[in-house]
Order: sequence, then C-alpha cells, then structure tokens
Amino acid sequence: MEITAVRLTGGVPQEVFTHWLSCLPGKRQAEILARRMRADQERSLCGELLARTMLARILHCPLPAVPISREERGKPFLKDGQDLFFNISHSGEYAVCAVSEHPVGIDIERLRKYNPNVARRVCSGAELALLAQSKDPARLFYRLWTLKESFVKLTGTGIGMPLQDISFSFAPDGTVISNQDNVLFQSFDFAEEYCLSVCERR
Ligand SMILES: CC(C)(COP(=O)(O)OP(=O)(O)OC[C@H]1O[C@@H](n2cnc3c(N)ncnc32)[C@H](O)[C@@H]1OP(=O)(O)O)[C@@H](O)C(=O)NCCC(=O)NCCS
Repeated sequence: MEITAVRLTGGVPQEVFTHWLSCLPGKRQAEILARRMRADQERSLCGELLARTMLARILHCPLPAVPISREERGKPFLKDGQDLFFNISHSGEYAVCAVSEHPVGIDIERLRKYNPNVARRVCSGAELALLAQSKDPARLFYRLWTLKESFVKLTGTGIGMPLQDISFSFAPDGTVISNQDNVLFQSFDFAEEYCLSVCERR
C-alpha cells in the first residue's frame, strides 16, 4: 500500500485552483464547485488530484483520463475491473490518499476535544472501558474513530452502519486488533494534531 499526504496552508491562489480544476472531468469539476465553502472545495480538489496523480503514474495516462467512477453511496473506484484500489480522506490542512492492490479505506481527522457523549454513541463497551482508563482519551478516541471510519470507507457503506459493532483494542506493541475478519488495520499519529488510520481487505 502507498499512502501520500498533501498539506494545504493559507489557501490556494485562484489561478492555481483554476488550473487544478481543469485536470478533472467536467462533472467532477461541477461537484466540487457546488460545495459552499472554498476550504471544502480546495480539500476535495486536492484529494482528487492526489488520487489521480498516484493512479496516473501506475496507469500511464493523463490525469483527466484516470477512469474514476462512484458507487451509490459515494465511494470512488477505478472502472474497468483493474486490480487497483484507492481511497481518499481530508481534514483540516491535509488531504491523504491510499492506493493498494487490495480494497482499502483511509481516514484522517484533526484531533478535537474528547466528548464522552459522542464516544458512548459510537464505541463498544470494551472501547469505552479503554477510554475510561486512558491518560489521553482525545487521542485514543480519534484513533478509534478513524479506524471505524476507515472500515466503513473500505466497505463503502459510510457511517450509516452501527459503529459500535466495529470494535478495536491494541496489543502492547501498538498493533491494532479488531473484530473484523480478513481486514488489516493500521493507525498512526500524524503531524501532531492529527490521527490517520487505514485498512485493507486481505
Ligand atoms: C464516507 C464518509 C464516512 C466520509 O466521511 P468524512 O470523514 O466526512 O470524509 P473523508 O474526508 O474521510 O472522506 C471523503 C472522501 O471519501 C470518499 N468517499 C465518499 N463517500 C465514500 C464512501 N461511501 N465510501 C468510501 N469513500 C467515500 C470521497 O473520495 C470523499 O472525498 P470528496 O468528499 O472530496 O468527494 C461519509 O461521507 C459517509 O458516511 N458517506 C455515506 C453517505 C451515504 O450513505 N449516502 C447515501 C445516500 S446517496
């Protein structure tokens, strides 16, 4: 698996934004421009360009020709049944993309304050017990949250599924242990204020 991250600071100048946008097919350009906030447009554009750049290098084609399509719930995938999978995530100043020969899901989140009410809605009993003992519940919560999101992004179902059912614990060396068969999870502290998780179906 290859993971690439791009950091966007201070906004993208209009001429660069226009040039980047022109590297995408017209329908995708319209979808990105339909986002209300400029920062969301930039994150989305950056994530898509990152994915196209990584995939174009492997497929030896120009960026607009990378055959990206979308499932019903929004998961982007490569058309034509190629044995190549990818997923995109963005949060705060970062856009990240994972490319793999196995189905993959990725999620990055900027750390915020720990909210036990949110944790009770999305965490299993075992995870809540880990959070109660933790010296840094915010970091642990976002580790669990990004792991769960990476899984619903691997499957493409999105956060409509009950997140408490996907449960994690950690071995003493940090290895992620999950209740999902045949899925390999990894989680990283990233750029101090962020947490990044990925998973692959094996
Ligand atoms: C997928 C989902 C969990 C992502 O949440 P998020 O943390 O806000 O977003 P991230 O930054 O991690 O990822 C966004 C990227 O994931 C990809 N993505 C979108 N939907 C996806 C899905 N269902 N599965 C996997 N990846 C998805 C896209 O590349 C998206 O980038 P874009 O917003 O620039 O197009 C959330 O959007 C979701 O639950 N979507 C499902 C919605 C749904 O069920 N719709 C059905 C009615 S049509």
